Amino acid sequence: MEKEIEKALQVLRSHEPIVIPTETVYGLAAPIFDEVAVRKIFSIKQRPEDNPLIAHIGKLSQVHQIAVDIPQEFYTLAEAFFPGPLTIVLKKHPSVPLVSSGGLNTIAVRMPCHPITLEVLKRVGEPLVAPSANISGRPSPTCVEHVLEDLNGKVSCIIDGGPCVYGLESTVLSLVEDIPTLLRPGEISQEVLSARLGKQVAVGAKGEFMSPGMRYKHYAPSARIILFESLDEIRKRMETEGVSKKWLLMKNPKNFPMQTFALLRSNLYSLFRRADQSNCDEIWIYVDPEMKKDHTMMNRVLKATDL
Ligand code: TXA
Ligand code: MG
Repeated sequence: MEKEIEKALQVLRSHEPIVIPTETVYGLAAPIFDEVAVRKIFSIKQRPEDNPLIAHIGKLSQVHQIAVDIPQEFYTLAEAFFPGPLTIVLKKHPSVPLVSSGGLNTIAVRMPCHPITLEVLKRVGEPLVAPSANISGRPSPTCVEHVLEDLNGKVSCIIDGGPCVYGLESTVLSLVEDIPTLLRPGEISQEVLSARLGKQVAVGAKGEFMSPGMRYKHYAPSARIILFESLDEIRKRMETEGVSKKWLLMKNPKNFPMQTFALLRSNLYSLFRRADQSNCDEIWIYVDPEMKKDHTMMNRVLKATDL
């Protein structure tokens, strides 16, 4: 582990991004004040420049390097959920380059929960900005094999930290306005955040998730995704269309005469990638009443569905 960390630090010193494991998904990381390396993140990922990055910190005191006017609520949530799958948007410190914040005067901050990455973050001495380590629009990588599928040959240091525990991206909460606002749903829910803060957390304007990155098509495999709310509908379509090159994903697999896989939050992206590798044309997802209530899962599935 020591050798890997040394290599990572050396690559960062040469203004090159590295790939870091986290508990959510893998990230493509560069020091927040290193504009040269941060620009490389955007070009490697083919990411739109106005889609801001998340700053990853290794200890709480690092937040002062990148944010100002930090409200008490930040510390309340940090105490409860850091390190962990929660990102908090704050007012940006003027010294943070605009390239790192996608041109915004706010900055998203999170402390990831992975021992190797935390050690790298502590030693770098400044936060690392990191989007997910995939080509933009592809499903986020939840293990090192996924990272290699997208970025092999494009980065000189990929830290293998094993499979990601959660497999979906962090919750994004803004504390910039008076009312705390959920911008992207994730493992830490609106209810849990509201309970911890002792006040209601809002969900964007008009109940929509407002993170700038939510505007883009995301997390999508090449196969077409079709959602079903009834098993009868699935049976009918199987009969009329046949099941060749089609996969069915459902929470509790039933005995259907087609390729069926058990769907969890933690394996959604990996199933998307496997479907593409198997030259699957269509992914059918059975949205049962329980899944329909899972805002995080539904958010990612719908993002992969609409164009
Ligand atoms: O779990 C995660 O958050 C992973 C790991 C690597 O930490 N990172 C991740 O990064 O998912 P990315 O770039 O794929 O998604 C970042 C999301 C985007 O929707 C972006 O728009 C939003 O966070 N975001 C970043 N900075 C923001 C800001 N200042 N204001 C509002 N939204 C922001
Ligand atoms: Mg991403």
